[in-house]
Amino acid sequence: MSVIAFVNQKGGCAKSTTCVHFAFWLTRKKHRILVVDADAQRSSSIWLESLDTQIPSRVIQSSDELLEEIPGLATQCDYLLIDGPAGLSEASRAILFRTDLALVPCQPTGVDLRSASDAVRLIRQAQSVRNGPPAAAVFLSRAVKGTKLLDEAMILLGKTEVPILKTVVHQKQAIADTFGQGAVVWELSGRPAAESAREFDGLFKEVMELLP
Ligand SMILES: Nc1ncnc2c1ncn2[C@@H]1O[C@H](COP(=O)(O)OP(=O)(O)O)[C@@H](O)[C@H]1O
Ligand SMILES: [Mg+2]
Repeated sequence: MSVIAFVNQKGGCAKSTTCVHFAFWLTRKKHRILVVDADAQRSSSIWLESLDTQIPSRVIQSSDELLEEIPGLATQCDYLLIDGPAGLSEASRAILFRTDLALVPCQPTGVDLRSASDAVRLIRQAQSVRNGPPAAAVFLSRAVKGTKLLDEAMILLGKTEVPILKTVVHQKQAIADTFGQGAVVWELSGRPAAESAREFDGLFKEVMELLP
């Protein structure tokens, strides 16, 4: 009965990838999951349909429907995951009015850091209207190992008003390959996939501790 949303208006920051991996991770732990795909590209629902493991998803894109349907859908599962849309839209606001936890994936580059701070601003607005919720956190995704930007990103993000998760998900071909293979990293062989799987394990453990 917890609602967890991946939000960031910037496309390509790994919202759908993280959402699908989290849905799989929770399903493997025997939780009942429903994914609401709020993005026009529908990547997470298409991806989930291609997995061997059955994980239900619903495509809901209008802000009115998101506002009206999320609470009812949340009662039908243990965790309702929302894959947020690109663009700072009414739909993003609707999601932030209904979610318990908002997660902002962010690539550690200048432009992406700016868009993460726009997402944080929307989250702060929702927290003000709702007098507390949603809980929120930023995490770094698609980070390239050994680049200086990563440290700078951590310092910059440290100034935002939501916590940054300790786990960083690095850029890896194994992750890029998963969508096309109708799979998630835990199902792929090889060391790079195992390393990415460990990163996702660490990230999701941290996320679970944030749940109200
Ligand atoms: N850690 C990663 N390493 C390599 N490629 C990644 C990683 N995370 C995401 N990608 C790739 O980046 C692209 C954008 O990711 P996606 O999850 O669709 O972002 P969003 O939903 O925020 O637009 C996809 O092609 C995906 O395969
Ligand atoms: Mg997406």
